Amino acid sequence: MANVLVGVTGGIAAYKAPGVIRRLREAGHEVETIATEAAFRFIPEETLSIATGRHVHTDKTWWEESGRVEHVSLARWAALFLIAPATADAMARAAVGLGEDLLSATILAGAKKILWAPAMNPEMWRNPVTERNVGTLKSWSHSFVGPAAGLMASAEEQSGVGRLAEEEEIMAAVEKALSENER
Ligand SMILES: Cc1cc2nc3c(=O)[nH]c(=O)nc-3n(C[C@H](O)[C@H](O)[C@H](O)COP(=O)(O)O)c2cc1C
Repeated sequence: MANVLVGVTGGIAAYKAPGVIRRLREAGHEVETIATEAAFRFIPEETLSIATGRHVHTDKTWWEESGRVEHVSLARWAALFLIAPATADAMARAAVGLGEDLLSATILAGAKKILWAPAMNPEMWRNPVTERNVGTLKSWSHSFVGPAAGLMASAEEQSGVGRLAEEEEIMAAVEKALSENER
């Protein structure tokens, strides 16, 4: 069993994050959660902390005087950093090395293994700049699961590639990434 850090970013699929967290805990993993400010536009902090059974790490807690440098301690703690759902913006920040928020700074602080589960509208996913950012992250051995094809949550899109991968698929990718760590 492993320490899994879950990053939740500000996309429509953020409401699915508690399901992923629950599955990780059922599998016996220790789970901590970081949520971006934008994530809270889509899911209440309380819902995430109840799913995790712990308080959620946020840009607010990052700056509290706790005697801990949260981005460094979380990066060290995590055997795997799963970002689900991952916005195009969060991937762009990681691809250029920004550390302006707790989630990005934790990646920058050297989180060992990173697994992105992107979710966005199909145009955002197909955008050459997103494709370039994904290519950059893959070149640094970051892993990806999804996005999947199917119906979009937004009424403007019918279908396309951009849906968050299903829970089973995310769990399989988590176990694969963790087994790669052990080698
Ligand atoms: C209604 C609405 C829905 C959005 N859905 C998505 C989405 O599914 N995926 C995505 O990449 N960005 C989406 N965005 C844009 C992000 O919220 C925006 O880029 C934000 O800055 C992401 O911040 P974060 O990466 O720090 O969470 C959406 C924005 C709005 C207003």
